[in-house]
Amino acid sequence: MTKRHLRNPFSRLSTPELPTVGPGDTALVTGATSGIGQATATALVNAGFRVIGTSRDPGSLNSVANTPEGVTLVPLDLSDPASIDRLPGELEKVRAGTVSVLVNNAGESQNGPLEELPHDAMTRLFQINVIGQVEVTQKILPAMRDQGRGRIVFVGSMLGSFPLAHRGSYGASKAAVKAFGFSARRELRPFGIGVSVMEPGAIDTGISQRRTIYVDRNGPYADEFATMLKNLNANEAEGISAGIVADEIMEAVTDPRPKPLYAVGSSAGVAFPASRLLPRDAMHGIIAKRHGI
Ligand SMILES: NC(=O)c1ccc[n+]([C@@H]2O[C@H](COP(=O)([O-])OP(=O)(O)OC[C@H]3O[C@@H](n4cnc5c(N)ncnc54)[C@H](OP(=O)(O)O)[C@@H]3O)[C@@H](O)[C@H]2O)c1
Repeated sequence: MTKRHLRNPFSRLSTPELPTVGPGDTALVTGATSGIGQATATALVNAGFRVIGTSRDPGSLNSVANTPEGVTLVPLDLSDPASIDRLPGELEKVRAGTVSVLVNNAGESQNGPLEELPHDAMTRLFQINVIGQVEVTQKILPAMRDQGRGRIVFVGSMLGSFPLAHRGSYGASKAAVKAFGFSARRELRPFGIGVSVMEPGAIDTGISQRRTIYVDRNGPYADEFATMLKNLNANEAEGISAGIVADEIMEAVTDPRPKPLYAVGSSAGVAFPASRLLPRDAMHGIIAKRHGI
């Protein structure tokens, strides 16, 4: 058989090799004072990048104590459009130069049944998890595009691929970010920029203590919601470490052919292939069962 016969029939459809980024380049990680962002900032410092992290309050004792060594913090609150507008100025103040790697990580973990989600809560969630991530990317892109190389990682969630009851708003925000990421991937390829989506499963970051919750404790969903939340929190506590997610994000950053989607935790290696074989209803049932409902 000739080499021509062995050629991958899809190779012309897949991503071509992109210019690489590496030591000395600037990386920006949103939400670098905790969990996945903190671990990713550390991994980037260790790989020789100049790392700028963000925090809502970079001067606070908590932020200072939790900022990885070698990371410069700048203020950013994704819930506040004015704060996003100030980001380019903040980056200039610390002489960040062109950002070659952007990890859109900061996010809110919201919970509540569809019927009981307040308008303001949903609006804030989409501002932080979707519009904020997109607008930060818009601020970074002109210089990254001019440079002709770069990497952008949107941190979504496996719940963006596998919906869970009482987590509709969160899953919807992460599915939205995935769609933005996949679309931008093709838009930015001609400019040497790789775009990937990272979907973590349950990761032990302590995010359970920071979840926002909207449920009527005496309402019709109260019992099932409580069961879901108890199991969600237990899964998180038994989840994999943020360092493992950071390692995957580093793959997306350093690979000349970054994949569209990376996923780790919550048996991601089994869940994604299974979802291509099982009826959708069965898959949704498995996910609900994992959360006790
Ligand atoms: N942990 C999981 O099981 C899991 C699973 C799937 C997906 N994820 C996603 O992974 C990302 C990180 O999660 P994590 O568990 O590492 O969370 P985390 O430990 O709670 O850290 C969140 C980070 O984001 C910052 N932040 C919070 N609200 C912000 C806002 N409004 N504007 C700007 N920054 C804000 C926080 O910094 P300051 O407080 O200093 O501002 C903190 O550094 C999130 O997008 C989350 O949805 C997590």
